Amino acid sequence: MIAPEDAAPLLAVEDLVVDYRLHRKLKLRALKGVSISVGAGECVGLVGESGSGKSTLGKAVLGLAAVASGRISFDGKDITHAKGAERRRLANDIQVVFQDPYGSLDPTMTVGEVLAEPLQVGGTSKAQARSVVAEMLDHVRLPADSVHRYPSEFSGGQRQRIAIARALVRRPRLIVCDEPVSALDLTTQATILDLFIDLQRDTGVSYLFVSHDLGVVRRICHRVSVMYHGEIVESGHTAQVTQDPEHPYTRRLLLAAPVADPARQAERRAAWLGLRDSA
Ligand SMILES: Nc1ncnc2c1ncn2[C@@H]1O[C@H](COP(=O)(O)OP(=O)(O)O)[C@@H](O)[C@H]1O
Ligand SMILES: [Mg+2]
Repeated sequence: MIAPEDAAPLLAVEDLVVDYRLHRKLKLRALKGVSISVGAGECVGLVGESGSGKSTLGKAVLGLAAVASGRISFDGKDITHAKGAERRRLANDIQVVFQDPYGSLDPTMTVGEVLAEPLQVGGTSKAQARSVVAEMLDHVRLPADSVHRYPSEFSGGQRQRIAIARALVRRPRLIVCDEPVSALDLTTQATILDLFIDLQRDTGVSYLFVSHDLGVVRRICHRVSVMYHGEIVESGHTAQVTQDPEHPYTRRLLLAAPVADPARQAERRAAWLGLRDSA
């Protein structure tokens, strides 16, 4: 049997460089040669502190950040500079869930309209769209009558379920999840992470899962890459990276992840302070 990591990956990012132009002559190199791969049915975490370049990598995969050099391939096809019709077709396969469940849903549309829109753009009939929307609401465990309500009538966690359903309606093979639970309280985070896990098991969808929180990544990801100042400093199976990290920066992130027990917390805080200057 072929192990998943030996099969050709669904998404392969190789030596990717992305610059932001700040002024006419001033550029900021946000990604400095990043490589990462995601297999079919796999969840790969991208973890690192704020500003390390995680969202930029997600945007590059979605075609929302200009690539200076390197290569992005999906299902063996080079999509690094895909634009126009090719990029629109890719939306059948690659979708996104953002952090902010309040800002990412149009408040003037009913949930039914929000969910049907990506299908109608793709030419699906109204009747067919209605049945897919009902199926997706069921998938994310929202009541069927949600179609008639507006996003503002839902809690943060429920809105994130709506955003996930919208990402799913075109039955994508990859979802870029950019901090999808970071705006939620801890209990809601746990239920949404469980939903992501169930959906992956049921549909085989892959996730590129961006988070600043190693605790979140530990719960959901098969493998993880740790990003620091636009570079991957460590990659591996989640258990190995989170239990026995090699890089001092990963150790610091690990110690910054919340734990419930206050005595353990104090111990970790002391260890964190000791590590601060060694990364
Ligand atoms: N549109 C932009 N224009 C200029 N600089 C940007 C832009 N977006 C992000 N950056 C900068 O690029 C770096 C990486 O940002 P980002 O990918 O958002 O990091 P993360 O998601 O890890 O917090 C940061 O220094 C950030 O300030
Ligand atoms: Mg970000």
